[in-house]
Amino acid sequence: ARKIIIDTDPGQDDALAILLALASPELEVVGITAVAGNVPLALTEKNARKICELAGRPDTPVFAGAERPLLRDLVTAEHVHGRTGLDGPDLPEPRMALQEQCAVDFIVETLMAHDEDEITLCPLGPLTNIALALIREPRIAPRIREIVLMGGGFFEGGNVTPAAEFNIYVDPHAAEVVLRSGVPIVMMPLDVTHKALTTRKRVEALRDIGTPVCLAAAMLLDFFERFDEEKYGTDGGPLHDPCVIAYLLQPDLFRGRTCNVTVETGSELTMGMTVMDWWRVTERPQNALVMRDIDADGFFALLTERLARL
Ligand code: BDR
Ligand code: CA
Repeated sequence: ARKIIIDTDPGQDDALAILLALASPELEVVGITAVAGNVPLALTEKNARKICELAGRPDTPVFAGAERPLLRDLVTAEHVHGRTGLDGPDLPEPRMALQEQCAVDFIVETLMAHDEDEITLCPLGPLTNIALALIREPRIAPRIREIVLMGGGFFEGGNVTPAAEFNIYVDPHAAEVVLRSGVPIVMMPLDVTHKALTTRKRVEALRDIGTPVCLAAAMLLDFFERFDEEKYGTDGGPLHDPCVIAYLLQPDLFRGRTCNVTVETGSELTMGMTVMDWWRVTERPQNALVMRDIDADGFFALLTERLARL
């Protein structure tokens, strides 16, 4: 199985991504590292443990990392995810313990202890933990097989400001560190995730399976989609983070292009904007495979089939 570390700020869509990974035998989740993002760290690390227990996998080690972005103040998203970050179902308080080791140390140690090309990083929130690990121990960069992340918005613009997507906006400096690291990067931006809508039909298909995990997942999505439905009148909300895990399982669900991506860190107006050289008009290094399209029906079929296994 392919070994992955999920770095996350759950978040209903993060929760679905974690469930998808834990349900998939092709992947081995060696650890889950929590970061501040959608809600503060004390909630994201607890939410990660709640989801491991929901999946019946309390053996998955969960670590807490950065409490705040590298340089900026923390911005959260309770207006989307609710006060707890996981509003929707009433999940019990977790009984599994939080690991004592800091998430950043865990990432560094795990990479140094494994062969090159063994560990894939899957960031689903602000990139603070990943950047801190790269800064603390630069020798990890060549040891990372790949970073597959959810973040950015190109043709779609932003979802937290007109220019910026939430994960990149919250810690644009960390995003710059990651994008300049030389590690192979696959990006799932809003251009992809806004095509992966949790329509009524798709959520009902999940609910119809009737298992405790699928019922809880449907309740998470019911809460999550109300934001986009009320604000934009869409049928369902964008299921961002599970796209990262789906890519590892079935890369042919996605289409994109390799090009240069940089992040704006100098202007308040466009802070956290991802700038992509789609037409390769510069000589800047092609540092990311940026996805633009998804087979959304195939994606939801995969998600539903996998969650039914838990
Ligand atoms: C990203 O921001 C968070 O609210 C979601 O969990 C996702 O990772 C989308 O912009
Ligand atoms: Ca997230």
